[in-house]
Amino acid sequence: MLKYRRTILQASAGLLIAGPMLAQRHVLAQTPECTDNPTPRQIEGPYYTPQTPRRSNLTDGLPGEILLLEGRVLSTTCQPIPNAIVDLWSCDAKGEYDNAGFKLRGHQITDAQGRFRFETLMPGSYGNSSFRRTPHLHVKVQGPGTPLLTTQLYFPDQPLNQRDGFFSPALLVKWTRNQSQAVFDFVLPVQAKG
Ligand SMILES: [Fe+2]
Repeated sequence: MLKYRRTILQASAGLLIAGPMLAQRHVLAQTPECTDNPTPRQIEGPYYTPQTPRRSNLTDGLPGEILLLEGRVLSTTCQPIPNAIVDLWSCDAKGEYDNAGFKLRGHQITDAQGRFRFETLMPGSYGNSSFRRTPHLHVKVQGPGTPLLTTQLYFPDQPLNQRDGFFSPALLVKWTRNQSQAVFDFVLPVQAKG
């Protein structure tokens, strides 16, 4: 897991230096919820690509419905975790992953309040008639001094949610204004020093 942070941080080294200047000014639409339960883990799946670009807009001009995802990375004591990596990837509206490049892939580093914000596309479903994945986002999250969290996020009211064995209500995003703006707060345990 430390190797993961080191690889991502090396890719972002130049931008990290400019981090304070690039601090996100966006104000969250809702007060984030806090819980002492860490966000549940889920499988990575077969389509992760390492060393993603650091960026907030992942859409690359692809067709589909714009999806804004924002939130915070918090500790189990409800403290914001700055400088956490949030690495997001998903399929396109047709259910296809870009496994050759970085379309719909990228990472953010949380600001002083632990915030992140992505602009991506609403993912489609994929699979076949016997096994079909409900729309979901894949994500890896790691803060300084936290374990690496690999998980997936889901969307309310998707007909396939109840038929997807990976679906978890604990990983549902919340719509903030309409079905294009979603919020999710990740909660990570902070490892004791020494
Ligand atoms: Fe997937």
